[in-house]
Amino acid sequence: MVASAQTKALPQLGKASLQEVLAALTPEEKVKLVIGMGFYPSGFPEGVLPPGNPGDREVPEKVPGAAGRTHAIPRLGIPSLTLSDGPAGVRIDPIRGKDSTKTYYATAFPVATLLASSWDTTLVRKVGAAFGSEVRDFGIDVLLAPGMNIHRNPLGGRNFEYYSEDPVVTGNIAAAFVNGVESNGVGTSIKHFAVNNQEFNRMQLNSKVSERTLREIYLKGFQLAVKKSQPWTVMSSYNKVNGTYTSESKDLLTTLLRQEWGFKGLVMTDWYGGKDAVAQLQAGNDLMMPGTYAQTQAILAALKSGQLTTAQLDTNVLRVLALVLQSPTFKGVKYTSQPALKANATVARQAAAEGMVLLRNEGKALPLAAGRKVAAFGNTSYSLVAGGTGSGDVNKAYTTAIAQGLTSAGFAMNEPLTQAYGQYLKGEKAKLPKTKGLLDPAPVIAEMPVEASLLQQQAQAADVALITIGRSAGEGGDRKVENDFTLTAAEQTLLKQVSAAFHAQGKKVVVVLNVGGVTEVASWRDQADAILLAWQPGQEGGNAVADVLSGKVNPSGKLATTFPVAYKDVPFSGNFPGKELPSTNKAAGNALMGAPSENTYEEGIYVGYRYYNTFKVKPAYEFGYGLSYTTFSYGNLKLGSPSFAGKMTATITVTNNGPTPGKEVVQLYVSAPASRLDKPESELRAFAKTNLLQPGQSQTLTFNLTAADLASFDTPSSAWVVAPGAYTVRVGASCLNIKQTAKFEVPKELIVEKSRKLLAPQEQFADLKPTAQR
Ligand code: BGC
Repeated sequence: MVASAQTKALPQLGKASLQEVLAALTPEEKVKLVIGMGFYPSGFPEGVLPPGNPGDREVPEKVPGAAGRTHAIPRLGIPSLTLSDGPAGVRIDPIRGKDSTKTYYATAFPVATLLASSWDTTLVRKVGAAFGSEVRDFGIDVLLAPGMNIHRNPLGGRNFEYYSEDPVVTGNIAAAFVNGVESNGVGTSIKHFAVNNQEFNRMQLNSKVSERTLREIYLKGFQLAVKKSQPWTVMSSYNKVNGTYTSESKDLLTTLLRQEWGFKGLVMTDWYGGKDAVAQLQAGNDLMMPGTYAQTQAILAALKSGQLTTAQLDTNVLRVLALVLQSPTFKGVKYTSQPALKANATVARQAAAEGMVLLRNEGKALPLAAGRKVAAFGNTSYSLVAGGTGSGDVNKAYTTAIAQGLTSAGFAMNEPLTQAYGQYLKGEKAKLPKTKGLLDPAPVIAEMPVEASLLQQQAQAADVALITIGRSAGEGGDRKVENDFTLTAAEQTLLKQVSAAFHAQGKKVVVVLNVGGVTEVASWRDQADAILLAWQPGQEGGNAVADVLSGKVNPSGKLATTFPVAYKDVPFSGNFPGKELPSTNKAAGNALMGAPSENTYEEGIYVGYRYYNTFKVKPAYEFGYGLSYTTFSYGNLKLGSPSFAGKMTATITVTNNGPTPGKEVVQLYVSAPASRLDKPESELRAFAKTNLLQPGQSQTLTFNLTAADLASFDTPSSAWVVAPGAYTVRVGASCLNIKQTAKFEVPKELIVEKSRKLLAPQEQFADLKPTAQR
């Protein structure tokens, strides 16, 4: 009788007040709530993954293959939440146990870099909405996406999971994605916060970055995303910034993220990220994922010794409880485990086509006329790379190859060639070693050499040659220059032979780049009449490529990341990805943790086009570049006022003056006057995409510029300031193809926001400065 009376009296989450629930939690239960569980991947050697709390393994998995869970406290009505990757689709096991009669495939959407190349926030929101419906339908509470680190260097192994080299593109695209996903009543986790732009020794890497560079380049995208979408959660990164693990940095997670930016949600670690769970809680990192027994013990001991206060732990616990209250699991939302795969495949296909970038189109090689006979070369014409590897991978039901997409679109594929590739790939795939686990890179199949007689026969019989060049990269390693950024010898040979044979017949050659990141194009592009950058376009990629090649979709994607002429053109490219520290304790490293390392961000704010334009280094294809099958003209640029008083509008009318319907990405850059802060030649401050304009049709676009959009971070005063003087607004079709300019004046210096000294480097180092001031 007594026991049941007590049970009845127990406060239940959602019914009783949070304070009552908190008061009913034992210290052990509180600690359970901030320590996760449920990460059971295969392929890690014994002993590498630290053990979780005793008993966790016995808790049945709700969604097998999800990345982790929180602990339930059933007596207080607190359920366990499920968290799942990742940026290109829900990553869970497609088969559960021995029962393969039912499958649990998710849609593989195009990778993030492709989505950003659409420059279309409406489209990305739509992708997010479809994506989030799968999160909900699988019974998952929080999606571990979007990834929004900056493309600092083309070799970054996870660049495909990230959007752009520019924070304004990154922040706006991320916000659209978050708003789309969360419209389903599920959460997101914007990651990896922050400065996690490479994979090399990622768990023990110290990124040394100046305060200004942090604010303007590496944090600004996150700041915009928080402001415009207030995501449910943030995932801190593996690395240190200026000597402190991001997950242990109060400057980053509390002062900046919460107090200055107004973030209201929960912060979780990346999986096994950071070292000191107590410091993490104190910094404002509320949840340790996927949770270890050692962390549990450390926190309990710190509570006992008084090193960790109950008040601090309660703050963290309250954020976990607030997340639980929001979650579909707590709300008892019914889920089917059978998402709308068909409808979502349509969204994936549309998005893929909208984010592809037409890099070259000599002699109107594209679009291909209906019914053309196509000779498709290159392994990846038949075996598309839908996305990258690691936690950004998706278990999808199928991937449409390019050859298949072209066939469905009514093109005639040349049989002997299709058969030769089919046989070759079947044989080579059978020989491949089994991938060992999550962090194993995709094995590469050498390009099939094409026999001279087969090539000649193709050049006679087909109307056009298509050559696909494919690349895969992923979590756990960065890319290499040789044979990855550059073409392999076999690819160069294929390109040379095919273009010689087809050009001799007066026939065109089209190259499709099926890549997750930037590759070298300058040395070979003249051999191709057209180049379509298809990125890694997800499971519907083959159909989407066919949509663009056939002209069913007029390409409208533009580069959100520069394609340099050569790798050496990337600033401080020789120092990437940093160095291992010689004198430190090597024992601190293991297969999971790597070795203590550091990387200095010497180029400062001169990342991507900010560098190439200011230092006059000509890229192969610049930021913002992309061709269309139609042409656009830009009318006069009108500013709301010649003098800036805190806000300003810029209006421009864009007209489709070509032959086919199309969309244009319109970019607004601003050049600032010389001031005590050095400035890039110009910076993207706003962008928009037109609707589908019919030939002759116009659309007027209005951009609203605020002082925050124009501001730079002044380190000595720790403030965002707008320097006085003459500014130039430059509106164009890329950062180098400026169509209209207009000037305005800022009469006196504006202090937009006063911050404080945060995340300062331990030792001073000089950022790169433009040698010749404008
Ligand atoms: C990755 C995260 C991912 C997590 C869970 C980590 O290794 O860095 O991006 O969300 O694993 O799978």
